Amino acid sequence: MSTSLDVIIKRMAMIFLVVGVLFGVILIFSYDIIKIDWPSFMEIQPSYKQMEDPLPPPERSIPIEGPISIPGMGAPENPTTADEASVTRGAELFAIHCQMCHGPTGEGNGPVAPFLVNFKPANLTSAVVQSKSDGSFFLTISNGVDGKMPALNENLTVPERWDVVNFLRTLKASE
Ligand code: HEC
Repeated sequence: MSTSLDVIIKRMAMIFLVVGVLFGVILIFSYDIIKIDWPSFMEIQPSYKQMEDPLPPPERSIPIEGPISIPGMGAPENPTTADEASVTRGAELFAIHCQMCHGPTGEGNGPVAPFLVNFKPANLTSAVVQSKSDGSFFLTISNGVDGKMPALNENLTVPERWDVVNFLRTLKASE
């Protein structure tokens, strides 16, 4: 009786030892004492930071939201008629996405403008800006101005951007 108890205790001790060592080895890896670069780590991914250029569309992809710029194909044509509905929508979107920098009248005097030290928001009523094409406005809204104005392609859908463009044209009058 006593001998078989001895054997059982020894076996149990052995099992605990083996399991304990295994557990210890696993902890070494899970606490990164020995670091293995598992490919599932969050930092290894094609993410990009705020205000960074948007990722280019995958090769051979076709836009499904209507005529949008295709890199290297120049400025797109405005497909949206500048009727009252479009301009009204554009005005609302301008108040949400642009006014803080460009100001309610588009003259570059929004509440954020004083804090932009290096580059003041463009005066959208000026002849210089108004002489640009609708497609150029569209690209500016979509891609921003490098280091000066953020790309707003994630804030505004393609049709919304054209509504804003149509609204920008009405700013000419206040010049
Ligand atoms: C964070 C502030 C900011 C916001 C928001 C912003 N802009 Fe701008 N925008 C600027 C600045 C700064 C410039 C001037 C860049 C320069 O000096 O070339 C500019 C320039 C422009 C220009 C002139 C580009 C050119 O080719 O000369 C247009 C058009 C324009 N913005 C339209 C818009 C519209 C439309 C929106 C909203 C959908 C918008 N911006 C939102 C800061 C802003």
